[in-house]
Amino acid sequence: MKTIKREMKGVILAGGKGTRLYPLTLVTNKHLLPVYNKPVIYYAIEKMVDAGINKIMIVTSPHHMEDFVKLLGSGENFKVQNKRGNQIQIVYGIQNEPLGTAQGLWIAKDYIGDDNCMLYLGDNIIEDDLKKNVNNFNTGAEIFLKKVKNPKNFGIAEIDKKGNVLNIEEKPKNPKSDLAVIGVYLYDNTVFEKFEGIKLSKRGEYEMSHINNKYIKEGKIKTNILTKEWFDTGSFESLIEAGNYMKNKNSKK
Ligand code: TTP
Repeated sequence: MKTIKREMKGVILAGGKGTRLYPLTLVTNKHLLPVYNKPVIYYAIEKMVDAGINKIMIVTSPHHMEDFVKLLGSGENFKVQNKRGNQIQIVYGIQNEPLGTAQGLWIAKDYIGDDNCMLYLGDNIIEDDLKKNVNNFNTGAEIFLKKVKNPKNFGIAEIDKKGNVLNIEEKPKNPKSDLAVIGVYLYDNTVFEKFEGIKLSKRGEYEMSHINNKYIKEGKIKTNILTKEWFDTGSFESLIEAGNYMKNKNSKK
């Protein structure tokens, strides 16, 4: 039987409410705020491009869409590495209401078509390279974990000795590990079948945990533990921490 080689497309979620950053986000979107010398969203795009992804959909709210288009256009400022410097292609999806990350991904369903995808929550900044994960990806899903000091504040993964995920618990009272699930995921083309039965969560959102739990049940989630820095720039502390880190990094160049 002939196996189909599927491409990996990127989906960056850049909507949400951004309430933790009020009043910074009363008139703008948090992914447009600066982290040292670049807007937050640049770090997500560059991470994808460095991993070899050159087709990206940015999903955001109608209120901020125009600003993203002004900033990023069709992707003309981002060049694919090692591929004759080709321009990447950025397209846009509109999320009318911030009804959750799973709803954000659903908007990209037709764009992903028969391909696989990297879902990237746009307020995350990671320093680990994802190229190998993208190149070696075949089927199932991959999530990325980072050791944290305060596991009660995160989605925490329980994994067995082989690295299989047994369970992911949101903000657990009694954490079973200190490994937080960060906002980058690789999914095969079955991801959209797994939306079946999805319901609004207690906090009124369609959550990716519904999808991830289906992959866990199938035993098809691979885990990767990040060894380098990770920032979730959705809070004041982390936003400034990321800015300081990038400032130091740039001064060492
Ligand atoms: P969160 O930081 O969990 O939510 P938020 O952006 O609404 O912020 P706050 O908690 O401060 O009110 O969102 C995680 C990422 O997912 C972030 O990059 C924004 C994105 N997102 C969407 O694109 N659409 C959505 O409906 C939601 C909830 C989040």
